[in-house]
Amino acid sequence: MKKLMDCLTEELAAAFEKAGYDPALGKVSVSSRPDLCEYQCNGAMAGAKKYKKAPFMIADEVAANLAGTSVFSGVEVVRPGFINLNVAPAFLASYLGQMEEAEKFGVEEAPAPRTIIIDYGGPNVAKPLHVGHLRSAIIGESIKRIGRYMGHRVIGDVHLGDWGLQMGLIITELRHRSPELVYFDESYTGEYPEEAPFTIGELEEIYPTASAKSKEDEAYREEALQATHELQNGRRGYMALWNQIMNVSVTDLKRNYEKLDVSFDLWKKESDAQPYIPDMVQRMRDEGYAYEDQGALVVDVKEESDTKEIPPCMLLKSDGASLYTTTDLATIVERMKLYDPDEILYVVDKRQELHFEQVFRCARKTGLVKDTTGLFFLGFGTMNGKDGKPFKTREGGVMRLENLIADINEEMFRKIVANKSVKDKDAEETARIVGLSAIKYGDLSNQATKDYVFDVDRFTSFEGNTGPYILYTIVRIKSILTRFCEEGGDVTKGEIAAPLNKSQKELMLQLAGFNSMVETAFLEKAPHKVCAYIYDVANAFNSFYHETKILGQEDEQQKQSLIRLLVLTRGVLESSIDLLGFSAPDRM
Ligand code: ARG
Repeated sequence: MKKLMDCLTEELAAAFEKAGYDPALGKVSVSSRPDLCEYQCNGAMAGAKKYKKAPFMIADEVAANLAGTSVFSGVEVVRPGFINLNVAPAFLASYLGQMEEAEKFGVEEAPAPRTIIIDYGGPNVAKPLHVGHLRSAIIGESIKRIGRYMGHRVIGDVHLGDWGLQMGLIITELRHRSPELVYFDESYTGEYPEEAPFTIGELEEIYPTASAKSKEDEAYREEALQATHELQNGRRGYMALWNQIMNVSVTDLKRNYEKLDVSFDLWKKESDAQPYIPDMVQRMRDEGYAYEDQGALVVDVKEESDTKEIPPCMLLKSDGASLYTTTDLATIVERMKLYDPDEILYVVDKRQELHFEQVFRCARKTGLVKDTTGLFFLGFGTMNGKDGKPFKTREGGVMRLENLIADINEEMFRKIVANKSVKDKDAEETARIVGLSAIKYGDLSNQATKDYVFDVDRFTSFEGNTGPYILYTIVRIKSILTRFCEEGGDVTKGEIAAPLNKSQKELMLQLAGFNSMVETAFLEKAPHKVCAYIYDVANAFNSFYHETKILGQEDEQQKQSLIRLLVLTRGVLESSIDLLGFSAPDRM
């Protein structure tokens, strides 16, 4: 469906053209003086030079051509030559009528769908999920949903970190604790037990213990490095342990992501890319891209236009070991082979920007991707506590995601019980739904690249720019509609009519901006634009609600029109929050 702004611009363009001017001058924008008008066109100002005419003369001619328009109810020329515009109420009503009919409220699917891989989540196996991984999951999930809504083929890949030193550390610690386990017996050739020799709880304790020990004890660290090396070379017992660690850990990760309503199409991992490394490295050598530098194998990626130093991309260390960079390059090889994506988007902490710059340049230079394959890095900022430092527990430790969710839910539960709006038995489930909106909206309403302060009190508030406020608005609409139905009303009857008052018109104008907003949010990979939009819609709705009699409306036709408007508002808001990755309860 054509965007409202485009409808308005077309009307102006035709009027410019009819008067003998360039139709491109007819561009309409949102008014910079909302107290005076809704939209404006500054084309006459721009045309003045070109046509050597006073701008208001051009504007007057254009306005005269708009005399019979059904699109605008007000066209006013103000000196020196602005054209102030108000949309005709009936035109707006019919635009919303089309939105109701259209699929996805008028959002047009991409004519040429792209295959897009989104690399997000990125947890490290066997390390507890902490808040650092929260942002990647929330932002990536939202962009995935927005992309799909636009009709693209989006593939979400969790890209587990499963191949690093953490595995060697866990194996080493296990060996110190239980050297008798069969996994450590190199002469053993039988089957390994099915049951893992640890639970997730133990695993989560083992890793930090081992990590701390390795920092103090050089010999221990050597042992862990050796174990990592042997694992990567396929030592049987270690591979079996690694499998156990993976199983226990992935089950736990899935449970956690489920709580966040975040899901992945692929559960690929760093180790999956390892088989691609030897050929890739060999080719880079053969083709002259890779060369030895102080024993290490590197590829130069600096470019003339660089303003800061971009160090060479290291493929192999002097001991032949591969690195994070090598794994990411090999993952690109794998993805191209298996999925042939048009685009790969990485949603990762912005502190990894240089790493990705190197990887992207190297991949392009060495031809791992096509010229047309887009490689994008969406680097997000840090989630801070109220003290402005990275978010920690009250005791100053690393906050586990599970605990963070539990804290929010508890706070929500308290508020919901105090409100007495839901039955006690439903309060817990409602708290979970609203709590998730608090976390996700709190994160997504900030531009991803910026650091932000995670403020439990603010995020869980029912007032202000918060998830719960948005849900509260949706619940309000739902409950009016429920009451209407209980009184025998039919929400499918009637049609949206011209607005009764200014606040209703404002709500209608906001709703009409949905397709344009979704398109922009996708283009800019910017879920915060969805948040800003629904905050405007929710505010517009609430003003309208306070100024307008809805169920008490005497005129039946008017009442039915208001009901249709409510249904549309609910639809637009619910679709929007779905793009953000949360949903609304029926009551709260
Ligand atoms: N596991 C990594 C980390 O925690 C993030 C992975 C991001 N994705 C990637 N392809 N490198 O830092």
